[in-house]
Amino acid sequence: MLTIQGLSKKFYKGTENEIEVFNNFNLYIEENKCTAIIGPNGCGKSTLLNILAGSILPDSGRIILNGEDISNLSEENRSRLIGRVYQDPSMGVSPSLTILENMSLADKKGEKFTLRRLVKKNTIDKYVEILKSLDLGLEHKLNTKVKYLSGGQRQSLSLIMATMKHPDLLLLDEHTAALDPKTSYIIMEKTKELIDKYKITTIMISHNMKDAIRYSDRIIMLNKGKIVLDKPSKNTAEEELIEIYRTKLFEQIA
Ligand SMILES: Nc1ncnc2c1ncn2[C@@H]1O[C@H](COP(=O)(O)OP(=O)(O)OP(=O)(O)O)[C@@H](O)[C@H]1O
Ligand SMILES: [Mg+2]
Repeated sequence: MLTIQGLSKKFYKGTENEIEVFNNFNLYIEENKCTAIIGPNGCGKSTLLNILAGSILPDSGRIILNGEDISNLSEENRSRLIGRVYQDPSMGVSPSLTILENMSLADKKGEKFTLRRLVKKNTIDKYVEILKSLDLGLEHKLNTKVKYLSGGQRQSLSLIMATMKHPDLLLLDEHTAALDPKTSYIIMEKTKELIDKYKITTIMISHNMKDAIRYSDRIIMLNKGKIVLDKPSKNTAEEELIEIYRTKLFEQIA
């Protein structure tokens, strides 16, 4: 479970360009559940995930993951507990390394290693099995550099790498937004399968209302860094969400 307490964050603090993203923001996220975060552009969704992952420091606030206060942990140390998949398929993977090397890096996260002895023979079979389950033919491209893969293939690899060590928390920031509808569906189904199988507490940002409802247990809508809707996904209709965007949020973002 994840608790966010008293989170405040301003960018360009103290300047005329100051942007207040969060002011005493609190959130409790249940264990082994997928929580979808939706909301208009600029409402603070990515900033929240960046703060959780440690890539942006808040002005104040505490983050407690499974009873441990991780607020002062570096991004690198948090990455042992937190998996991430970004919107941009080139992030989350090392483009100049092969599929095999990328998977091995993810597998050895947190351990000391050298690239030369990264990929051991007996682990290759394990990676092949994982890749086969994606059904994208990546198991035949083990020695292909990731930069030569399509966006969908990279995103699949990124998802597999982010979940390989069964993180305590998985952060998905519009991870299917750059994909075509079919590939997006494959990745969403795979995401669900992995988080169900490994029981990973997940926060998923999406602008796709259908996906947000279908693949999550709980929907949270943010607007200007505040929670304006928080309810079980199974009781939420797409039309209801769109209506809020159309009416309630309109004046505030216009
Ligand atoms: N690193 C940064 N430096 C300065 N300002 C930032 C930074 N990151 C975000 N912001 C600002 O903070 C606000 C919230 O941005 P954020 O990226 O969290 O929005 P978002 O909800 O993810 O939007 P979108 O749906 O467009 O991805 C915006 O005004 C944005 O310009
Ligand atoms: Mg964003």
